[in-house]
Amino acid sequence: MAEKSATLFSPYKMGNFNLSHRVVLAPMTRCRALNGIPQPALAEYYQQRSTHAGFLITEGTLVSNSAAGFPHVPGIYNEEQVEAWKKVVDAVHAKGAIIFCQLWHVGRASHQVYQPGGAPPISSTSKPISNRWRVLLPDGSYGIYPKPRALETYEILDVVEHYRRAASNAIRAGFDGIEIHGAHGYLIDQFLKDGINDRTDEYGGSIDNRCKFLLQVVKAVVAAIGAERVGVRISPAIDHLDATDSDPLGLGLAVIDRLNKLQVELGSKLTYLHVTQPRYTAYGQTESGRPGTEEEETHLIRAFRKAYQGTFICSGGFTRELGMQALAQDEADLISYGRLFISNPDLVMRFKINAPLNKYIRKTFYTQDPVVGYVDYPFLTKGGKEGLSRL
Ligand SMILES: Cc1cc2nc3c(=O)[nH]c(=O)nc-3n(C[C@H](O)[C@H](O)[C@H](O)COP(=O)(O)O)c2cc1C
Repeated sequence: MAEKSATLFSPYKMGNFNLSHRVVLAPMTRCRALNGIPQPALAEYYQQRSTHAGFLITEGTLVSNSAAGFPHVPGIYNEEQVEAWKKVVDAVHAKGAIIFCQLWHVGRASHQVYQPGGAPPISSTSKPISNRWRVLLPDGSYGIYPKPRALETYEILDVVEHYRRAASNAIRAGFDGIEIHGAHGYLIDQFLKDGINDRTDEYGGSIDNRCKFLLQVVKAVVAAIGAERVGVRISPAIDHLDATDSDPLGLGLAVIDRLNKLQVELGSKLTYLHVTQPRYTAYGQTESGRPGTEEEETHLIRAFRKAYQGTFICSGGFTRELGMQALAQDEADLISYGRLFISNPDLVMRFKINAPLNKYIRKTFYTQDPVVGYVDYPFLTKGGKEGLSRL
């Protein structure tokens, strides 16, 4: 429970981790890991955003060779990737920060070009993502999402196993823990949401069945690396990539109820639950989302916050002021920042002294240049960079 007067700069005990402040780096795909291998530029990027006892979550990181839907996204399913991640983790740890690896499978949000043997992407369904959305192709152009192949029931445990192995690999690479990406219309969300999941087996239909895949992944990963090193991300109210649900509040509460029960069963808490604010779709990576009213959003997030028994991270459209407000009103324990952290490597310092922020340049979010739009956003001052490591 957050103390009443919490600010972005109050320390916080997140499970076994003693955080010195509450400004978290949100997971963000940046497409700089050439052919799936983290490069020296990633070490620099994450190190720039590291503060002493600050908390970072990596970009979505692939759990298998069928998991990609963007170019040059890092993986964590083979030895070369694990070895390369070690250097990134070491660079972050050298600054005293804590880093979790976000485990990702995009499911149907892919294209044959990213699939082994040019196969169709896998999903809970064989319905494609509508033409309202476009897939980013390796040459920088945008294409139509193809028709996926619905996984056979017997194949699903193999995918669960990929998450388990990826989690073990992350720990071997030195990560402090992992986050399961169950949000934003990707594979796990494709099982959770009734606007996508049209299965008739034990993974479809009832809310219990739709939650089954996520729960299996959580349990498998927890068994491999321990609950205290596992975070879960969900976005019940985000309709990105057609991920709609007829009852976002009910779905979110159902997931939370199952996570709470699991924690009781295990006698140990997960590290955190990370929830994306509905307003992100409205202001975020697409302009096409259907924003809820402010009142609806607040109601939803408050209900999730109240229901979840553990550390609660909120993400989506936060400014310094909104983050302060959410913490003061006990609507979250920690706030994750995405786009502002892209353009402000020293965001924590800037927030602390309430300094002006660099503007982010959207067109370089997903390009492959190891410098431009990646590690070249200016620090406040040379002194600022030094000061940052002392925060
Ligand atoms: C370029 C970009 C890439 C993103 N990639 C991911 C990702 O890999 N995994 C994820 O869970 N969220 C991803 N997100 C969503 C962010 O984690 C965050 O929730 C979102 O940007 C809203 O926060 P903000 O308003 O502070 O930017 C991405 C967002 C952006 C802008």
